[in-house]
Amino acid sequence: MLAGKRILLIVGGGIAAFKSLDLIRRLRERGATVTPVLTKASEEFVTPLSTSALAGQKVYRDLFDLTDEAEMGHIELSRAADLVVVAPATADLMAKMTAGLANDLASTLLMATDKRVLIAPAMNVRMWEHPATQRNLVTLQGDGIMTVGPDVGDMACGEHGPGRMSEPLAIVDAVEAALADGPLKGKHVLVTSGPTHEPIDPVRYIANRSSGAQGTAIARSLAALGADVTFITGPADVSPPSGVKVVKVQTAREMKDAVDTALPADAAVFAAAVADWRVENASGSKMKKDGSGKAPALEFAENPDILAGVSQLKKGRPKLVVGFAAETDDVDANATAKRKRKGCDWIVANDVSPETGIMGGSENAVSVISDEGTEVWPRLSKDQVAAKLAEKIAGALT
Ligand code: CTP
Repeated sequence: MLAGKRILLIVGGGIAAFKSLDLIRRLRERGATVTPVLTKASEEFVTPLSTSALAGQKVYRDLFDLTDEAEMGHIELSRAADLVVVAPATADLMAKMTAGLANDLASTLLMATDKRVLIAPAMNVRMWEHPATQRNLVTLQGDGIMTVGPDVGDMACGEHGPGRMSEPLAIVDAVEAALADGPLKGKHVLVTSGPTHEPIDPVRYIANRSSGAQGTAIARSLAALGADVTFITGPADVSPPSGVKVVKVQTAREMKDAVDTALPADAAVFAAAVADWRVENASGSKMKKDGSGKAPALEFAENPDILAGVSQLKKGRPKLVVGFAAETDDVDANATAKRKRKGCDWIVANDVSPETGIMGGSENAVSVISDEGTEVWPRLSKDQVAAKLAEKIAGALT
């Protein structure tokens, strides 16, 4: 429910703007107040009158509309909301946000706001896949902008692929997650997830089979309980959840730097399958066969142990540090020893032998080992494991 919540809805100029009218209805059905802002381009797709009628509110359109400034300045407008939603977020609006432009009402509000921002991108598939948009997306996610969609499907322009704006109900779900008033409200939790890639040369790397599914589900469940989540992910198969701050990394050392930057945190969950070693003699150019039939000798160096480093911090250690132990033999004994060695509070142990189908699969069977002993959980979906773990974390922090 969104009773009493105030949403500032910025409607960008794309064909999906018509869906924003339905979004206004859906948000209001759940009790939210919606203040709409139209960009000039969006008025080609929806009219101020229909938008205002559905919102039951004045529509804001122009930065230099003096009447608006007299009633409510743009700074105040940007802060009066609980959440700023941009739907549709066009390629142009995303580029403006990335660059920090403030040359119309919408972009100025986005620069001036001190509230969380959720964007629902919508554009032609080529525009979405364009390196510029993908670069902007990474920057925006790193800035803490939350995203929902886009979906894959047929587009108004006749093409097919990713770029359709998420359906209004999916955006409402993301809004609810972003505003969740759960037990973890006000708590900052960082989550590492996915594999790391350790380069051998510019085209080859060493990786592992982690899909990032469990870490992603944990971040989503923590956000659903109201936590302010920083999600630090290696190159995973699954998309990051909406409603969290996403930091994308490739290598273990980049992951460590991202964790250090994200601290302090109330809790930290290390679900990433971090490569233990990196190639010390990685080549700056593509390695070639030299005709001798001899394979190149790779030299390995140990990567920093991110979990152990954070667990053993003298100053600024999160109150709760949770590690994972992916084992193929003597799961409990190995995991118990790992918890001691690394110094974390809990360790979530799982058997990743190929016959379990856990690595890369949709289910997980874990034991949670802490000072209080070992809890053995039944085999559950990764989403259920995540929800149960998030509840347990909430219990420990509150
Ligand atoms: N981990 C980490 N940094 C590393 C290696 C592991 O933060 N360089 C974290 C993982 O995210 C996980 C936990 O440590 O939470 C255990 O990872 P795992 O791969 O099971 O253990 P290893 O440290 O690799 O130990 P071993 O090689 O003995 O199995």
